[in-house]
Amino acid sequence: MSMSNQHAMAATQERAGQPILEIEHLRKVFPLRTVRLFGPPRGVQAVDDAAMALYPGRATALVGESGSGKTTIARMMARLYDPTAGVMRFRGEVVKLGGGNSLRNYRRHVQLVFQDPFSSLNPVHDVRYHLSRPLRVYGHARTNDEITEQVLSLLDRVSLSPAEQFILKYPHQLSGGQRQRVAIARALAARPEVLLADEPVSMLDVSIRLDILNLLLRLKEEEHLALLFITHDIASARYFAEETLVMYAGQMVEGGPSDDVIQDPKHPYTQLLLSAAPDPDRINAEGRGLAQLPARGEIPSLINPPSGCRFHPRCPSAMPVCSQRFPQRTELGGGHWTNCFLYGDGDGAVAQAVPLTVIRRKAQGSENTEQ
Ligand SMILES: Nc1ncnc2c1ncn2[C@@H]1O[C@H](COP(=O)(O)OP(=O)(O)O)[C@@H](O)[C@H]1O
Ligand code: SF4
Ligand SMILES: [Mg+2]
Repeated sequence: MSMSNQHAMAATQERAGQPILEIEHLRKVFPLRTVRLFGPPRGVQAVDDAAMALYPGRATALVGESGSGKTTIARMMARLYDPTAGVMRFRGEVVKLGGGNSLRNYRRHVQLVFQDPFSSLNPVHDVRYHLSRPLRVYGHARTNDEITEQVLSLLDRVSLSPAEQFILKYPHQLSGGQRQRVAIARALAARPEVLLADEPVSMLDVSIRLDILNLLLRLKEEEHLALLFITHDIASARYFAEETLVMYAGQMVEGGPSDDVIQDPKHPYTQLLLSAAPDPDRINAEGRGLAQLPARGEIPSLINPPSGCRFHPRCPSAMPVCSQRFPQRTELGGGHWTNCFLYGDGDGAVAQAVPLTVIRRKAQGSENTEQ
């Protein structure tokens, strides 16, 4: 790491205190089951060299199209998947892989809220059961009275009221939004310091998405949680997260303070995402945005991903070097960075972004897109 990078990172850490959870050079390859007689074993290169730091009381948005590796990162951070390579640090200490007590202790601090509230709750158990389990497992409550009191308090905290009514309900008696509130309460029951929310509203009715997002924001403030907010909707990131990270095909390509990334996107992929979002000044409650990206620009195969910058087959500014190697991270100031040869890496690239209008025209396929 260069001195300037070290200084920028140190400055960021000073502003925000020490990170609670960090990942560095994190990589995940899912092995393929197909038998291959020749050549090295093949796999899905789902996440490549990912880095992130989460801070108490701050939200980080992880943005990217479906299939870009967001869930895989969250599952590694929740220790549901083992990384293929890389390091995770919790409170500055390297997280050692393995099960038993250390895994349980880790999960008490780092909780994941899943995307689908319809499959994440067990239909044969009531709300009390779902919330009492983590209270018992993590030793926060023992007697029935203690459990009832704490379950009621958890329901209050996620605004399921009257709590006395919700405690006895079964999942099928709850709406999608109410189920997601129960799932969030179950995560809170462990008393975590880190909450990983994997597209927590994408399967919910449009009308209640904002309520659930506001609930997460309130909990982040009240409980000083470090929040990872995964979304495919870059416009909402600005409203819900101090920091935004953009992923493309398993690689992180841009990141920094959300206002900078969203108002002044530097990476051509981030620019494409924003040009496809209907209105960056409005919270994208309809879940449009990425869904409108043109079909011809689908995410590439991760079994045999494009060499170098994985965006090069779609990039309007691609240069020969882009397919030869992945660009180093370039610091743009104020904590904003990108991995793109347009902004440095010593290859004599032009430090100039492609105008948004060109990208929009290309995205809409209204001109000959051959380079
Ligand atoms: N358990 C798995 N086995 C094999 N491939 C997987 C598995 N989980 C995810 N993948 C692949 O990894 C890539 C990233 O997936 P995912 O992390 O779910 O992306 P996102 O959450 O951004 O939609 C995709 O190509 C997906 O097909
Ligand atoms: S590195 Fe090259 S291909 Fe990748 S986004 Fe930048 S200009 Fe485009
Ligand atoms: Mg996902």
